[in-house]
Amino acid sequence: MEAFDVVDVIRTKRDGGVLSGEQIDWTIDAYTRGAVKDEQMAALAMAVFLRGMTREEIARWTRAMIASGERMDFGRIARPTADKHSTGGVGDKITLPLAPLVAVFDVAVPQLSGRGLGHTGGTLDKLESIPGWRAAMTNEEIYRELGEGCGAVICAAGAGLAPADKKLYALRDITSTVDCIPLIASSIMSKKIAEGTGSLVLDVKVGSGAFMKDLEQARELARTMVDLGTDAGVKTFAYLTDMSTPLGLKVGNALEVEESVEVLAGGGPADVVELTCALARKMLEMSGKSDVDVEVALKDGRAMDRWREMIRAQGGDPEAELPTSVHAHTVVAEADGVLEALDALAVGVASWRLGAGRAVKEDPVQAGAGIEIHAKPGATVKKGQPLLTLHTDDEWRIARALESLEGGVVIGSAAPEARSVILGEVQ
Ligand code: URA
Repeated sequence: MEAFDVVDVIRTKRDGGVLSGEQIDWTIDAYTRGAVKDEQMAALAMAVFLRGMTREEIARWTRAMIASGERMDFGRIARPTADKHSTGGVGDKITLPLAPLVAVFDVAVPQLSGRGLGHTGGTLDKLESIPGWRAAMTNEEIYRELGEGCGAVICAAGAGLAPADKKLYALRDITSTVDCIPLIASSIMSKKIAEGTGSLVLDVKVGSGAFMKDLEQARELARTMVDLGTDAGVKTFAYLTDMSTPLGLKVGNALEVEESVEVLAGGGPADVVELTCALARKMLEMSGKSDVDVEVALKDGRAMDRWREMIRAQGGDPEAELPTSVHAHTVVAEADGVLEALDALAVGVASWRLGAGRAVKEDPVQAGAGIEIHAKPGATVKKGQPLLTLHTDDEWRIARALESLEGGVVIGSAAPEARSVILGEVQ
């Protein structure tokens, strides 16, 4: 005999009511066991999307999702642990240089990541373009690598971590209930709290290529997540960062690994370096290491050495050539002028259509597919000058990618207002 009837739970939320703690615990548990069906959970997710949740409901929902699975315990590791989570963007490869950079300073980074769905790329998809690299690690391997090994792990989150969220996230993805603050905040924070990191820096993206299109929404999401983390005993801080245009000059899988290696070699685009260093400094400061120079560790090769160790520890060959795609197509400027906008969503969707991302979970991704950017907003351009190079293994995909770029590349006469990558913070 079940403690509640899910139809009552759905009706309460549909009519704008507040769910009790017991109702929430039961719903998440019953959904994980299969006693609440997907169609019932889809109705409840839509009711939450339309009616929202109180702070107490979100906190209880998060705790129930954590309780649906195992919790990792990094207490047995001598090094402090710090993690970063980005809410997802276009060209966002920051995790790749960031994890080894922070590990240089003896702070362990347990970066349990996911795959891409839709226009935002997945960290694991990017790393899998490195020959030999494997995403799966056992908990014992993770503990060993963080404690005694190179101190940084980027791997697939195990099936045991917040299984309720795995089921619910897949359902939200196909019922248009992803971009909802209570559901995003509880989804992200249940995984991060269950993962057991000591400190957490959130990178909440704002702009066309992000879930949150404006700063106020992003601030509310950040506030909700910081409070959830802090209440659960995880030191949590959030940056709000720009996602109106792609980060860096490369979008895709192998292309983003290539750009990350440029950053680890002391070069790379200024926006990627700036955000990597800001996040690294904050993770280190929260772990009690304030007087370290992260820029120097990028310049003098220490971060690159850690990267190589981290890639080798997961079977990859950091010296191997990265895969490239079969076809390339150049997009040129249609007029003289100033590049007023290069829209993150348009570039993200184009890259996805070129084969860098997947439409459904089971799709393979193309390692070499994606987009190289030759001019960023504010650049003066001449008619005929290359703006983008599209890469794909399937020629037919180029026309579809060009369609999604329509309206996303704007040439005019006025330089856009210079925008910093970091737009705000919440602590
Ligand atoms: N990432 C997650 O893990 N969950 C969400 O709901 C959105 C982004």
